Amino acid sequence: MSATPERTTSATTAPVASEPVLLSVRDLTTTFATNAGPLRAVDGVSFDLGREEVLGVVGESGSGKTVLSRTIMGLLARSRVTVSGSVRLDGVEIVGASENAMRQLWSTRVAMVFQDPMTSLNPVMRVGHQIDEVLRVRLGLSRTAARARSLELLSLVGIPSPAERYRAYPGQLSGGMRQRVVIAIALAGAPALLLADEPTTGLDVTIQAQILNLLDDLTARLHMSVVLVTHDLGVVATRTSRIMVMYAGRVVESGPTADVFADHRMPYTRALLECSPRVSNAPHTRLAAIPGRPPNLAALPAGCSFAPRCAYATERCHREVPALVETTTPGHQYACWNPLPARGGPRP
Ligand SMILES: Nc1ncnc2c1ncn2[C@@H]1O[C@H](COP(=O)(O)OP(=O)(O)OP(=O)(O)O)[C@@H](O)[C@H]1O
Ligand code: SF4
Ligand SMILES: [Mg+2]
Repeated sequence: MSATPERTTSATTAPVASEPVLLSVRDLTTTFATNAGPLRAVDGVSFDLGREEVLGVVGESGSGKTVLSRTIMGLLARSRVTVSGSVRLDGVEIVGASENAMRQLWSTRVAMVFQDPMTSLNPVMRVGHQIDEVLRVRLGLSRTAARARSLELLSLVGIPSPAERYRAYPGQLSGGMRQRVVIAIALAGAPALLLADEPTTGLDVTIQAQILNLLDDLTARLHMSVVLVTHDLGVVATRTSRIMVMYAGRVVESGPTADVFADHRMPYTRALLECSPRVSNAPHTRLAAIPGRPPNLAALPAGCSFAPRCAYATERCHREVPALVETTTPGHQYACWNPLPARGGPRP
């Protein structure tokens, strides 16, 4: 193993392709005031997202994926939370923007598909009316035009018999159909950026694949940029051009998807990969689990936050936080004092 970083960077994950940037995030930090003290759920995250690019954000539960997405959406309650850094969407600064200013962007520039479709749908309102509402409030469509567009959107997301489903309540639909409705609502304003936060949580494997394939198809057809959040590296393997791995609120590795899979340098990325379900696994195969638990973000250990769980930790790891450094592959970065050897080098 080499202890020498190839090159330190300003911790920015630049897109590999040279397309213009849609979303530019710099040194984003989200801190909650909790009874146990300040809790930094997102800690100095920087990345760029190109137009029509799909970025996968992966990490264990509690690594800050949802807080990152909600901060980008400007959706966090303003009390007991401090956000610093910059999030520019099409050049418009979101950090510090008023709720009114954010309302101008929601639906038409940025939309989010949440982890749990039941919490984002109103259980006592017909699903068609919920889509109509977005179209009328955000786009100013008339009642008739909104209904016609809602039916088109239900059809776009693959819901059979849209006119019938338009009148259904969320509880009358299956989990997969509900998530399709949530996606229809997110797409109602034709956003440039879609934040999909674990869009298949709680769905069975076949329906998960259908929803992910639907998102793939819609991303290409509607020319959207997507941030696809998941704890499962298998989900992002074929669906993203880049991956950002998060641990304890920080980016610990990022780069082109194929490169991160084949040539990851951070032991945590390897541990995540070893825990990821594979199609080639026999049914009911027990997955490896990463030993130990993610740290308490209100009382982080000094140094690398993965150190208490890392087989490669040395004394320095417990003392100093490693910065992101570039590998020789453009755009591939990792944060580790004792990185795994580069592909082709000796394996540990
Ligand atoms: N409103 C809040 N107040 C205080 N702490 C919070 C709040 N929301 C989230 N957190 C904390 O922020 C950290 C990151 O949470 P987050 O929900 O972003 O994780 P996640 O990566 O999305 O996990 P999961 O995979 O379980 O969805 C956690 O420690 C969580 O307890
Ligand atoms: S504990 Fe050390 S070797 Fe392990 S991931 Fe952190 S910096 Fe790398
Ligand atoms: Mg989450």
